[in-house]
Amino acid sequence: MTHATLPVPTSDIDLFSDDVLHDPYPALRELREVGPAVRLTAYDAWVLPRYDPVRAALADHERFSSAQGVGYEDQFNALMWGTVLASDPPIHTRLRAVLSDKLAPKALAKLRTRIAALADDLVAGAVAEGEFDAVSELAAVFPVTVVADLIGLTEEARGPLLSFADAAFNTFGPLNARAQASLPFVGQMFEYLNTVMVPENLRPDGWAASVYQAADRGDIEPASVVPLLSAYVTASMDTTINGIGNTILLFAQHPDAYQQVRAEPALLGPAFEESLRLESPAQGFFRRTTRPVDIEGITIPADSKVLLSWASANRDERKWERPEEFLVRRNPVDHVGFGYGVHGCAGQGLARLEAQAVFGALVRSASSIEISGEPVRKLNNVIRGLASLPVTVGAEGK
Ligand code: HEM
Repeated sequence: MTHATLPVPTSDIDLFSDDVLHDPYPALRELREVGPAVRLTAYDAWVLPRYDPVRAALADHERFSSAQGVGYEDQFNALMWGTVLASDPPIHTRLRAVLSDKLAPKALAKLRTRIAALADDLVAGAVAEGEFDAVSELAAVFPVTVVADLIGLTEEARGPLLSFADAAFNTFGPLNARAQASLPFVGQMFEYLNTVMVPENLRPDGWAASVYQAADRGDIEPASVVPLLSAYVTASMDTTINGIGNTILLFAQHPDAYQQVRAEPALLGPAFEESLRLESPAQGFFRRTTRPVDIEGITIPADSKVLLSWASANRDERKWERPEEFLVRRNPVDHVGFGYGVHGCAGQGLARLEAQAVFGALVRSASSIEISGEPVRKLNNVIRGLASLPVTVGAEGK
């Protein structure tokens, strides 16, 4: 449909300021009211805050390109070139194929028992303490262990993995203090990928060895190996860590919801999707318009940076009833917390498997979860989550 061109809606909201990152939802609600496409005067960028345009943009990689990077700053976007995240078809299709077998349902089914046993152990240890930090002792430990194993890393080579993803995601935003403080860690990550995550330190059946093998076969350029490894290392960590941490916080804040899920474990999956909708761990990435794009009568010029706000789309009152509520029976299958379209999360099956394992273990062993100390937010330019979540749990069984 074509529309008459309307005046450009603008806003001076700074989506990357500390205040907004602490609680982005009032600002996102305001942006949804301002228009379907809003020019952000604090940056050289636009934002799509409503669900339908975000979903349409995700389905339209020809006009909303990822090839120049999915962050805001050109200098950091250059670091992403050659990754699945920062490419368009047909190059993207080739890169994405490298690990698609390893992340396909058949491969994941084989991991289910091992991942469940790992979660059972970790959760049993935490629950036995009665009081623990659900982030540092559980959410932040579990995905690192799972993913390091799948990457094929030796025990000694795993150490610094956790610091990398948080830093890398900060550089998806503007060059503010957070991004600047993260730069040394991003440097260390590339150093690590080039020197530690090399074939002699890798199990031959892991993800990282598969990436090297794809380069040996000529399926991808040798220069793509390190960028591709960086994408999988970062994409698989803080997203899942915060997805788990955010969900435990929601369970602790909504005891009725937790008891519903305990009574009906089939709700574990829908509850996780609802958490990803309400508190999307990845809040939004950028695209670049390849030509002028009409969004309901607003024209975004060619070569504009456009933030696709998944966090806002996932709370759009035009799409969701009672969008601010945590409803474990909602089962919001079309939320965009995993993105959508060709770049839709490559690891969503694994993320769901990890979440099911942790929450399954939790509902079986903890009869209640209560917040026992002030939760501490971790501010990141594009990731929403917690640094600390002290909880007490009841352990008398079902
Ligand atoms: C709750 C956990 C997770 C969330 C919320 C999440 C979120 C997302 C989102 C929103 C995207 C789309 C990026 C875009 O459109 O530009 C994405 C892409 C991606 N995710 Fe995840 N993710 C999660 C877990 C994982 C895991 C466990 C892996 C491990 C393999 C992973 C690997 C990837 C990769 C490789 C991409 C890039 C795909 C592409 O560009 O084709 N993610 N993720």
